Amino acid sequence: MLRVVVMVSGGGTNLQAILDAVDNGKITNAEVVAVISNNEGAYAIERAKNHGVPAFVVTPKAYETRDAFNEALLETIKACKPDLIVLAGFLVKIPAAMIEAYRNKIINIHPSLIPSFCGVGYYGLKVHEAALARGVKVTGVTVHFANEVYDCGPIIAQRALPIEEEWDVDTLESHIHDIEHVLYPEAVQMLADGRVHVLADGKVAIDPVPAA
Ligand code: GRF
Repeated sequence: MLRVVVMVSGGGTNLQAILDAVDNGKITNAEVVAVISNNEGAYAIERAKNHGVPAFVVTPKAYETRDAFNEALLETIKACKPDLIVLAGFLVKIPAAMIEAYRNKIINIHPSLIPSFCGVGYYGLKVHEAALARGVKVTGVTVHFANEVYDCGPIIAQRALPIEEEWDVDTLESHIHDIEHVLYPEAVQMLADGRVHVLADGKVAIDPVPAA
């Protein structure tokens, strides 16, 4: 059973999608053992509690230095003994020591087709504003491993979304969320099944689904 820790800062709709997928059997061989947030006001914490999943808050405000916060965050994670760390709208720069300790065990979801509209400054609605401002006809969602550079780790899964002319930023975000809530649980399941392999060149190979 894969031990999954989900890290959140906000509403937690992706957390909810993963919790629901575990409940309804779309995710097997995995359990969410803890939720960690940097934000004590995150609604995602309520979602965890409603589901009987322990939630921990580690906030930078409680520490004198960034290093002390980073250390406390890593200690909290280690205590949960995760096999997989799922970043689900976690708006904190992942400390290098955490990447090092959990190389290719931390995944993130980004609301565009990487390498478009990603990297420093591209978060939340800014991603969709940039896509609409550029007039792209297709955007989408990317699930990738986290490494030292924002949105640059090995890509696990992507799903495209054609943009319709009358959409505004809110419509686009809503359609993107719908895709995320399917794609993220699918990616967790692929990992739980051991089908995801990071190759020496930094690309990801996915084993086919075994015949039933
Ligand atoms: C998602 O849109 C995801 O792509 C981004 O953060 C957002 C989190 O949303 N990384 P939620 O908190 O899961 O609703």
